[in-house]
Amino acid sequence: MNARTGPEPDTNTEMSPNELAVAADRAHVFHSWSAQQLISLVPVAGGEGAEFWDEEGNRWLDFSSQLVNLNLGHQHPRMVEAIRAQAGELCTIAPTFANRTRSLAAQLIASHAPAGLEKVFFTNGGAEAVENAIRMAKVHTGRHKILSAYRSYHGATAAAIAATGEPRRWASEPTVSGSVHFFGPYPYRSEFGSSTHEEECRRALAHLESVVSMEGPGTIAAVILETVVGTNGVLVPPEGYLAGVRALCDRHGILMISDEVMVGFGRLGAWFGVDHWGVRPDLITFAKGVNSGYVPLGGVLISDDVAATFAELPYPGGLTYSGHPLACAAAVESIRIFEDDGICERAARLGEEVLRPRLTEMERNHPSVGEVRGLGCFFAIELVRDPATREGLVPFNAAGADAAPMGEVVAACRQRGVWPFAHFNRLQIAPPLIISEEQLHRGLDAVDEALAVADRHVVG
Ligand SMILES: Cc1ncc(COP(=O)(O)O)c(C=O)c1O
Repeated sequence: MNARTGPEPDTNTEMSPNELAVAADRAHVFHSWSAQQLISLVPVAGGEGAEFWDEEGNRWLDFSSQLVNLNLGHQHPRMVEAIRAQAGELCTIAPTFANRTRSLAAQLIASHAPAGLEKVFFTNGGAEAVENAIRMAKVHTGRHKILSAYRSYHGATAAAIAATGEPRRWASEPTVSGSVHFFGPYPYRSEFGSSTHEEECRRALAHLESVVSMEGPGTIAAVILETVVGTNGVLVPPEGYLAGVRALCDRHGILMISDEVMVGFGRLGAWFGVDHWGVRPDLITFAKGVNSGYVPLGGVLISDDVAATFAELPYPGGLTYSGHPLACAAAVESIRIFEDDGICERAARLGEEVLRPRLTEMERNHPSVGEVRGLGCFFAIELVRDPATREGLVPFNAAGADAAPMGEVVAACRQRGVWPFAHFNRLQIAPPLIISEEQLHRGLDAVDEALAVADRHVVG
């Protein structure tokens, strides 16, 4: 056994490098959200920029940015060097001390957030950020209920999974008491029978107001929502929705929490999603894109009002690795790269000049494409079996044979060298923000070809 490379090849068998790597994984690694025996693993040996490759040199363009976190792509030389430099200086320090890398990371993050959110509580990832934002809201308001949307994902820890509005929550039920769900806007599949975005906005806000009334405004600590819903469909809110939620929260003394874990730091062509709508939440959760996941980091941006609650009152939460120097050094360097290279502007431009026009063309050309929607470098291709009824290419939460048509589309993308993000009946396009135009076009050509596989399932 070699400590660096894992098990030595069994000389009695003829295992390929990929098979060896998969066997080593299967021996001891337990994977997220999976039946361990049923997963098929691709062993990744390396990556650079928007590409990664397996142990045998097969390469893919990463149209998923791993889990929509790798905004700066693999092995950005400045990121690698910043982590190396911090490791040489100070690898770790308890959160009870002041540390200049941590202070600088917090300052830079706050400098790009809406005014009035000046403090940062650091966590190790997105779920912990949500967990702590909810804790802050409950203590600040003295209320216990949390309202969140169906078709949302907020993380897999207790309060975060309770807030989550999709099937990943079900196995964790019963969850935290006081978790209440409502429907957000989704014009393509309106819960409210709307026929325009404007109508959807109005009806979704009226629905939320009803839920607040029925639950008792004085019992509700916060409304938490993804600024643009990520995994559950790249649902861009209609104009006026977020401002309407803000106004509703203000009327009832409810805090507004924007979960920007997936969309913060450039994904939508802005530092934060809320920038697109000029809304200032009370708390913003972030993770992923803050440092592209080079070292795990998340956090909560805290409004002056909420921060004031904890000026004299101890905050009842903490983490051994809150504000870990290696993670903060990666955040500092990432933000500087964003500033130096205009990464947000680049994402916005690629979205409007390449992604939107090319995907709109696919919508016109492929009967299986019901709708494309998105913002910046984040788009969904919603696939349907029947364009007239909008029946999904696969049913909601499909598994096994029911999910096969999506499996075929994903396989067709992978065969053409593109690693897509797929969820239910959607392909979601989320490339690293540093992807070259040539790579982006090449990847979109492959997706375009792969959609022919979906077209074959269209009826009517
Ligand atoms: C909007 C949102 N919130 C929270 C999370 C949870 O983040 P993590 O997986 O880092 O705990 C995710 C993860 O995808 C997310 O998309």
